[in-house]
Amino acid sequence: CTLKKTAMQLAFADGNPKANIMIIGEAPGNEEDRAGKPFVGPAGKLLDKMLESIGLNRTNVYITNIVPWRPPGNRNPSVSEVTICMPFLERQIELVAPSLLILVGGVASNALLGIKQGITKIRGRWYTYHGNDTSNQLEIPTIPIFHTAYLLRSPSKKKEAWSDLLKIKKHLDDLE
Ligand code: URA
Repeated sequence: CTLKKTAMQLAFADGNPKANIMIIGEAPGNEEDRAGKPFVGPAGKLLDKMLESIGLNRTNVYITNIVPWRPPGNRNPSVSEVTICMPFLERQIELVAPSLLILVGGVASNALLGIKQGITKIRGRWYTYHGNDTSNQLEIPTIPIFHTAYLLRSPSKKKEAWSDLLKIKKHLDDLE
């Protein structure tokens, strides 16, 4: 993946690989590139606050991105970059085997669910992630939410984000 050449370093994952909850964003940004960890900049701090509001933190979630290297200038990863990195992400999901996937933003949601609708239509709805290994048919409940970087730019959307968090909390409570 040519993103490796322009990034400072790999920002592979953070949190607990044994967690039941896996959170997948789009791509590392500037601060993630420097730290070598996903979601450590402003969007990550908001994500932490949102998780905390429903009793979660990086000891009980696992966090990664669709691509593990920062795209130059924080552009969206291209289709070919997403395609090249996808088998590694699919394998990561199989290995972590979470019981809930939270997809942060439209890029992650479209790439993993194979749907083209925008995030405004699909956020807060339940989908099933199946993976692509036919010998290990996964069925993981999956919910797309607004990207936290978008919420920082459009704080009025936090109301919808809160209702999505409550759905996630209810799902987790029902599992107990
Ligand atoms: N945005 C993302 O999608 N992922 C990160 O790790 C940071 C910002």
